[in-house]
Amino acid sequence: MYNEINPDQTDRTGGLPKEESSRQSHFIARCRGWAGDFEKTHHRRPTASVQTFGCQMNARDSEKLSGILEQIGFELKEEEDADLVLYNTCTVRDNANQRVYGRLGYVHSLKKKNPAMLIGLCGCMMQEESVIEKIRQSYRFVDLIFGTHNIYKLAELLYERLTSGSMVVDIWKEGRDIVETLPTERKYPYKSGVNIMYGCNNFCSYCIVPYVRGRERSRRPEEILEEIRRLVDEGVVEVMLLGQNVNSYGKNLETPVSFAGLLKEAEAIEGLKRIRFMTSHPKDLSDELIQVMKDSEKICPHLHLPLQSGSSRILKIMNRRYDKEQYLALAKKIRTAIPDISLTTDIIVGFPGETEEDFEETMDVVRQVRFDSAFTFLYSKRTGTPAAAMENQIPKEVAQARFDRLLALVQQISKEMSGRDTGRVLTALVEETDRQHEGMVTGRLGNNIMVHFPGAPELVGQIVPVRLLESRGFYYMGRMEEQ
Ligand code: 5AD
Ligand code: SF4
Repeated sequence: MYNEINPDQTDRTGGLPKEESSRQSHFIARCRGWAGDFEKTHHRRPTASVQTFGCQMNARDSEKLSGILEQIGFELKEEEDADLVLYNTCTVRDNANQRVYGRLGYVHSLKKKNPAMLIGLCGCMMQEESVIEKIRQSYRFVDLIFGTHNIYKLAELLYERLTSGSMVVDIWKEGRDIVETLPTERKYPYKSGVNIMYGCNNFCSYCIVPYVRGRERSRRPEEILEEIRRLVDEGVVEVMLLGQNVNSYGKNLETPVSFAGLLKEAEAIEGLKRIRFMTSHPKDLSDELIQVMKDSEKICPHLHLPLQSGSSRILKIMNRRYDKEQYLALAKKIRTAIPDISLTTDIIVGFPGETEEDFEETMDVVRQVRFDSAFTFLYSKRTGTPAAAMENQIPKEVAQARFDRLLALVQQISKEMSGRDTGRVLTALVEETDRQHEGMVTGRLGNNIMVHFPGAPELVGQIVPVRLLESRGFYYMGRMEEQ
C-alpha cells in the first residue's frame, strides 16, 4: 500500500534534499529515529489516531496522513487515547467547527493524564485566521497546526515539534506544488478515492471552500491515470474521482482536457471495474459527460448534483449560475438518457432572504426531480463569505421549520425511489461482513444503495450479482446469484 520510499535508505544525518518528496522521506527517517527511541523506552510502538471530519476529500487526505504516520513507525488506532492525535477538520458549516472544539476539550483531559501526548490539527478549519487565533489563545496544549495545502509535510512539522518543544504552526494561503508521491495508508483494500483536482473557483456566496481550499488546480491526466493503474495493481476495483467541481476538470491545464475525456481514459484501464466521481456542478455538466456515462460499462449510474435551492431568485444570489428551469431540464435530460441513474443532491435551507415562496420552489424541484436521496443543510453563516454580510438572515426557528418539512419530503421520496429495483439482479461490490448478523455481508450497488445478503467473508472486495428481494426503505435485502 505504500509508494517506493524506503526511509531506511535515506541518509538521516546528511543535508536536506531539495526535491520535496525526498525532503519529506528524509524527515520521515528522522522521525523514525524518534519512534525507535520511543519503542526502546516504552517497550511498545508509539500510537497515533487520525480523526476525520467532513467530506471525501478529507477522508483521502487522512489516508495520506496515516500513510506518513505508519512509515514513521506509529501504530494506528481508532480511539483517541493515543500518543499522537490528529484532527483533520472541516469548516463548511459551523457545527463542524463546534464539534472540533468539543473534541479538543475531551482530548485535553487525556493529555492531562499523558503529558507527552501530541495533539495536531489540520485541514480546512485551520485555514481560517480567527480559528488559529482562538487556538493559540485558548487551546495552548495543541502541539501542531497545519492547513490543507501542506499535509504532505506532516513528518517535517512533527520533527520540528519534537525538536523545538513548542507549538508548530504552518499555514499556507495557497497551494504550491502538488506533492502526491508520499506513502498512503488506504482504509479499504478494494476501493480508493483519487484526487483529480484541488480547490474551487466558483465562489458560491455562502461557501467557505474557495477560501480554505484555494484556487482550482487540476492534476495532469497522466498522473491520475498512473495512480489509478497503481491502485488497480494493488487490488483496487473501484475508484472515486474527487474534486469540488469535477465538471470543470482540466480547463486550466497546459493542454486542456475535459472531465469526460479523463473518464474515457480511466474506463480503458484493465482490471478497474467501477468508477465513481464527486462532486458535479450543474452549471457545467456537459452532454459529452452524459454520453460517456451512458456508454460506459464501468461508470456507476449515480450523479450527485447539488441543487442548493429551487428558487431562481435565491440561486442568483447564491451565485450558482443556473436557474430552476435549467436545473429541471438538466435532471430530465440525465434521467431520459440514463433511466437507471440515481440522482442525489445537496440542499440548503434558510439562505439569507429566503421567503416562503422561495422555499416552496425548492419543495417543487424536489417533487419534480424525485431525488434518490438528498443531503439537507440548515444555512450556516461563514465569516468572510458574501452571504454572511447579507442583512436579511433568516430566524433559526423559521429555517428549522422549513428544514423539517423538506426533510420529511426528501425522506418519503427517497424511500419510494430506493425500492424501485426490487426483483432485479444488480451487481454489488461487497464492502464488509455484516457486524450484527453472522453469515451476512453488505454490498454497494452501482447506484450507491446498500444491499445485505447471505455470503462468506471471502466475498469482501468482490463484485457479485445480487437479486434484490426486498426494499427496507433505504437499503435492500438480497440473495447472491450464480456468477
Ligand atoms: N451553510 C450550509 N450548507 C453549506 N454547504 C456549503 N456551505 C454551506 C453553508 N454555509 C453545503 C452545500 C454543499 C455541501 C457540501 O455543503 O450544500 O453542496
Ligand atoms: Fe463551495 Fe460552490 Fe465551490 Fe461547491 S462549487 S465548493 S458549494 S463554492
